[in-house]
Amino acid sequence: SPAPTLEDKFTFGLWTFGWAAQDQFGSATRAHVDTVYAVEQLAERNVYGMTFHDDDLFAFGSTDAERQAEIDRLKGALDATGLKIPMVTTNLFSHPVFKDGGFTSNDRDVRRFAVRKVLRNLDLAAELGAETFVMWGGREGAEYDAAKDIQGALARYREAVNLLSEYVLDQGYSLRFAIEPKPNEPRGDILLPTVGHALGFIETLEHPEMVGLNPEVGHEQMAGLNFTAGIAQALDAGKLFHIDLNGQRGVKFDQDLVFGHGDLQNAFSLVDLLEHGGPNGGQAYTGPRHFDYKPSRTEDPEGVWRSVDANMRMYLLLKERAAAFRADPEVQEALAASKVAEIQQPTLNEGEGYAELLADRSAYEDFDAEAYFDGKGFGFVRLQQLALEHLMGAR
Ligand code: GCO
Ligand code: MN
Ligand code: MN
Ligand code: MN
Repeated sequence: SPAPTLEDKFTFGLWTFGWAAQDQFGSATRAHVDTVYAVEQLAERNVYGMTFHDDDLFAFGSTDAERQAEIDRLKGALDATGLKIPMVTTNLFSHPVFKDGGFTSNDRDVRRFAVRKVLRNLDLAAELGAETFVMWGGREGAEYDAAKDIQGALARYREAVNLLSEYVLDQGYSLRFAIEPKPNEPRGDILLPTVGHALGFIETLEHPEMVGLNPEVGHEQMAGLNFTAGIAQALDAGKLFHIDLNGQRGVKFDQDLVFGHGDLQNAFSLVDLLEHGGPNGGQAYTGPRHFDYKPSRTEDPEGVWRSVDANMRMYLLLKERAAAFRADPEVQEALAASKVAEIQQPTLNEGEGYAELLADRSAYEDFDAEAYFDGKGFGFVRLQQLALEHLMGAR
């Protein structure tokens, strides 16, 4: 059975296994997880890297000396284990000052403080060699339509991202930004709620090439959307800069389950896409396979580390199953029968324009739609059954 290697590029947020499991209805069920211990645990498991929010590493309001002490402890553990920090992010949601948002709070002083907090963490991200800076605007939003001027808020969001981009360019940092969409929670409605909304926003920025996406499985699924399809569109736009893998079962609160423990079919098609969906059939995404999940509140420390293993194991098992699916001659035959590859063929002939298409009688005047199909189907159900049989290990 598959075991993680460094080449798998698995990464975990410090806040994932580190979550003490406090929720809306109850207090923490677990103790704080020490950063150095966590780095050692991850390295032992062949995890490639760890990610963090500033406030995960050193508490909000830490003195400069306290902050530096935690950074130095982290650096020591990284040196000792070889673990990497490929992504860093900033917490603009926990402290009450951010109750109406960071970049888009109605209060201008809060916005100025939020941008400063991020600028400081950009320096740390660059210092630790991170390539990606994630921006999840969990508090950027509203509960009431009259309370937020959405166009104004988007203008302030844009202003912030433009300023941060300019800073990264001027400092010569090799950092790119990745916006993480989420439809709601903790706000009633969050700005840039889906992959599609964020893609539209990115094109309005001063440096759109520096800004991409960090889509999270559960967040698109909370909106009832197909995550794999969203990822395919992000790839099409060249914007899949990072990814948050986890599990979600349907349109409800953000579950942050282990990857594959939610919509397993969609997890299967996602891994298939990431691993085999490139333009030439190769890896479509080569970045870190980042897990952003929460070990359930019912788990003790042993259960937490089992859940870390479970994420990687689910990914590797799905990768095996997807490879078997692709290699099966019957699947290849079913794909051909369903004309799946024909979508790659341009609709017009080489050099053809609308004039030539209009002149082509076979395309319209002589095209007999009834006779053409004559009851023939596409055979998609057969294909789906084959996919599920591979997913179940039945083939
Ligand atoms: C969520 C989000 C967050 C962000 C993280 C990065 O579950 O609502 O995934 O966990 O990913 O805070 O900023
Ligand atoms: Mn989530
Ligand atoms: Mn996330
Ligand atoms: Mn999360």
